[in-house]
Amino acid sequence: MDIFTAIKGRRSYRGYLSKPVEEEKLNAILEAGQWAPSVMNLQPWKFLIVKNPEMKARLKVSCQETLGKIYEASGWKWVSKFKIDFLTEAPVIIVIAGDPKKTGADQFLPGRGTGYAFSCCAAIQNMHLAAHALGLGSLWFSLFETDKIKQLLNIPDELDVVSMIVLGYPASSAAAINRKPLEEMVTFID
Ligand SMILES: Cc1cc2nc3c(=O)[nH]c(=O)nc-3n(C[C@H](O)[C@H](O)[C@H](O)COP(=O)(O)O)c2cc1C
Repeated sequence: MDIFTAIKGRRSYRGYLSKPVEEEKLNAILEAGQWAPSVMNLQPWKFLIVKNPEMKARLKVSCQETLGKIYEASGWKWVSKFKIDFLTEAPVIIVIAGDPKKTGADQFLPGRGTGYAFSCCAAIQNMHLAAHALGLGSLWFSLFETDKIKQLLNIPDELDVVSMIVLGYPASSAAAINRKPLEEMVTFID
């Protein structure tokens, strides 16, 4: 699959089959993350692989509580209806933790120190694209509380939980979605 087909064809999936992800495919996806660009090539990420059904169930309970808090704070109806069964359905969850100390020179600029998170996001997107190219589905999942996830997965205190990737074979096709026209997002500066 060429890179533009992969970029345009990747979608977020929120329903998964129980079919396991082949080890070779998981390794290829992790390698795609490994080869992402990172600030000063610091590679500030750790990829934690969760397959254990009990651990996935605990993650789901924790994220369900978090959704409750988000609903209380926002009042957004979709949040109260949002189903996160994919956390237990999907065979693999990759938790991406980043080291805020490995953020490069931007730590000396006011309001910055974000380089480590940007680097992790580059790895995350590489992994999503690799998953799609290998015929898998994935979801970028961020509705969790960092401290709770750290405690559950025994993640060292100095790391930040940047995101999760839900990974597996999709149960159905993804919802149709489009993008704003390019003209709305591009400005050519003379
Ligand atoms: C930083 C980030 C966080 C996201 N968090 C969630 C999430 O917690 N739950 C979810 O269902 N989708 C999440 N998404 C997926 C977006 O909803 C999705 O990418 C967007 O709707 C566009 O759809 P597509 O990925 O199918 O093109 C996240 C995406 C990004 C980039």
